[in-house]
Amino acid sequence: MSIIYDKERRLFKLDTSGSTYVIGVYEENYILGLYYGAKIPDMHFDDFCDRTPNASFSLANPVITENGFTPDTAPMEYGCSGEADFRISALSIKNKNGDSVTDIRYADHRIFSGKKPLPGMPSTYANSDSEATTLEIDAVDSVSGALVTLVYTVFENQPVMTKSVRVKNTSDEPMILQRVFSSCNDFVTMDFDMITLNGRYAKERSIDRHPLSHGVQGIESKRGVSSHVHNPFVALAKHTATEDTGEVYGFNFVYSGNFSAIAECDFNDTTRFIMGIHPEGFEWTLNADDTFYAPEVVCVYTSEGIGEMSRIYHRFYNNNLIRGKYKTEKRPLLINSWEAAYFDINTEKLLAFAEVAKELGIEMLVMDDGWFGHRDNDRSSLGDWFVNTRKLPGGLKPLVDGVKAQGLKFGIWYEPETISPDSELYRAHPDWIVHVDNRTPMIGRHQYVIDMTRQDVRDNIWDQMNEVLSSNDIDYVKWDFNRNIADAGSAVLPKERKGEFFHRFVLGTYELLERLVSNYPDILLEGCSGGGGRFDPGMLYYSPQIWSSDNTDAIDRLDIQFGTSMCYPASCMGAHVSASKRTGYETKGRVAMWGTFGYELDPRKLTEEEKEIVKQRVSDYHRYYWLHRNGDLYRLISPFEDRYKAAWEIVSQDKSEMLFTLVYMKQQTASMLFLKFKGLDPEKYYFCEQNGKTYSGAFLMNAGLNLTDAANSDGGSMTLYFKEK
Ligand code: DGJ
Repeated sequence: MSIIYDKERRLFKLDTSGSTYVIGVYEENYILGLYYGAKIPDMHFDDFCDRTPNASFSLANPVITENGFTPDTAPMEYGCSGEADFRISALSIKNKNGDSVTDIRYADHRIFSGKKPLPGMPSTYANSDSEATTLEIDAVDSVSGALVTLVYTVFENQPVMTKSVRVKNTSDEPMILQRVFSSCNDFVTMDFDMITLNGRYAKERSIDRHPLSHGVQGIESKRGVSSHVHNPFVALAKHTATEDTGEVYGFNFVYSGNFSAIAECDFNDTTRFIMGIHPEGFEWTLNADDTFYAPEVVCVYTSEGIGEMSRIYHRFYNNNLIRGKYKTEKRPLLINSWEAAYFDINTEKLLAFAEVAKELGIEMLVMDDGWFGHRDNDRSSLGDWFVNTRKLPGGLKPLVDGVKAQGLKFGIWYEPETISPDSELYRAHPDWIVHVDNRTPMIGRHQYVIDMTRQDVRDNIWDQMNEVLSSNDIDYVKWDFNRNIADAGSAVLPKERKGEFFHRFVLGTYELLERLVSNYPDILLEGCSGGGGRFDPGMLYYSPQIWSSDNTDAIDRLDIQFGTSMCYPASCMGAHVSASKRTGYETKGRVAMWGTFGYELDPRKLTEEEKEIVKQRVSDYHRYYWLHRNGDLYRLISPFEDRYKAAWEIVSQDKSEMLFTLVYMKQQTASMLFLKFKGLDPEKYYFCEQNGKTYSGAFLMNAGLNLTDAANSDGGSMTLYFKEK
């Protein structure tokens, strides 16, 4: 059993394959978070409880004043507001008396094999009960009657632990949840750098690293989605941690809406880190007997550097988050119509794309925006999910039949959460938009957000989608969302529940996504939000791949892909070759091959020479497909650290194969490059296909290859493939 309870000492010890997490129940049933880090075999954590001397001006529970315990400095497992723990709190409940003092104490616990799903929400899963063990600790606030269950799952073969929280109202009156974070960790040091992924539209997930300092710091989204601006991921890395060495803690929120991830370093130079639903714009009325479920956080610990943290997330998400047929099946290589034609699509043009695409070896045609209502630009028709027969005469059938006749699969675009003012749906139901009374709702890309909190709205959108999907042979759906949410309100939510809007919106979206994947298990779903504006583990649970960015320039993509790879696997990273001008098709293909790989251009405009390059890249895609899907990523040269170039490798799990890619953002003069490879077996010998030479793994990793001048030009690139001899 990887979770044990020492009854005498009242200690819980949770072991993953590479970490130990210890929780203690202290006097007066305070629950303390005693340790999270490298594996420790024994249970001698008693001393940790009394580690809080010199607490100036700290307040004490009068029952236990003697031994210096104070919630002000104790490592509280789940810090609450108002009860002498003055750090950022994970939980705040307004009780029937009207105050928000919240104080939970241990009441009970359960340990069991396996992992339970979260109702109505995405979460990671165990493939069998033997793969994971779960601990649920019940803690009670005796004044409010809140029964708070802290849920922990550890995985046997991976250094991964998940955390979530649920709150049940055991009183007979409603209570108001003001903040319910999903995880809280108190660390005994502030010797950490915070690593986050920040950006904006077309520049998603740039890596930011800075030392923690005293006070409160962190990232958040209040945009209704996880957002382009901050990804719901934080790593706390020791100052000395590098890509290949040192201690790193990763936290990734399995949620697609507003979030907050905050570290506070206090007067004792310790750190509290919390992650969860953003408390601003959140207030949940919990009636007697009702339960609120807070989403899950995926926690990773490693002492082997930032790169290893990433590989742990990649394997875990591929095995324990991504679902459905395409978790294991090969995904079709697609061509998407967006950058090729934008809104100017029609049956004839799309069939012409399909014909050339087929010749190039592409396997699926995706018809992006512009096929429905009377949509010729972004000013109309969202919500009218019926075929525009002016562009597609006779409906979808002739197009789909034509595409299928070429031997290609067919995909289609939707934006189910939005509505255009110029649409039949809006004219029929103007109150279906997200809005609040007496204010003019903000508009973005000429569209409103549709009220996904409402069952009738979701049913309408579903019926429309279902009509198209059930009467055509559709293999793929791209689910887009091209704006953020302001004026967060619903015509039907009562006044006392207005604060529930944002979370209910996310739950509504999840419900519709679940309907889609459960009714159409063979459809490959790709998430999208104006590029990568909702690239999070919550969406990954439904869509095994997510469009990374609308920026398809291969050089800009280096930053985006390096940042995305911090915790998201290559298998989900939407990456297409477009007609962008900065590099040639060789480099564009090499960069896109890191991700899901596809094309997004008018294939008729390719020259014969370009077509030959595309064919070569397509054949490389097929050849290296399983290496990319199942292999381990090693980031060798980061574009965030080197002004000129970037390099990475994919190594097969058995270390018998390796594909190396080097890309120059711009030419670098007078610089020697001896490239040392990573992740190989030092004992094995590897044959390099490109130069015909054989090297030991030890040589490649320690001496490296002289790649000075190789591919050194503006936008130049190279790949080397090594196979065990
Ligand atoms: C934004 C997406 O990121 C693009 O790929 C494309 O689908 C457009 N929306 C269509 O409006």
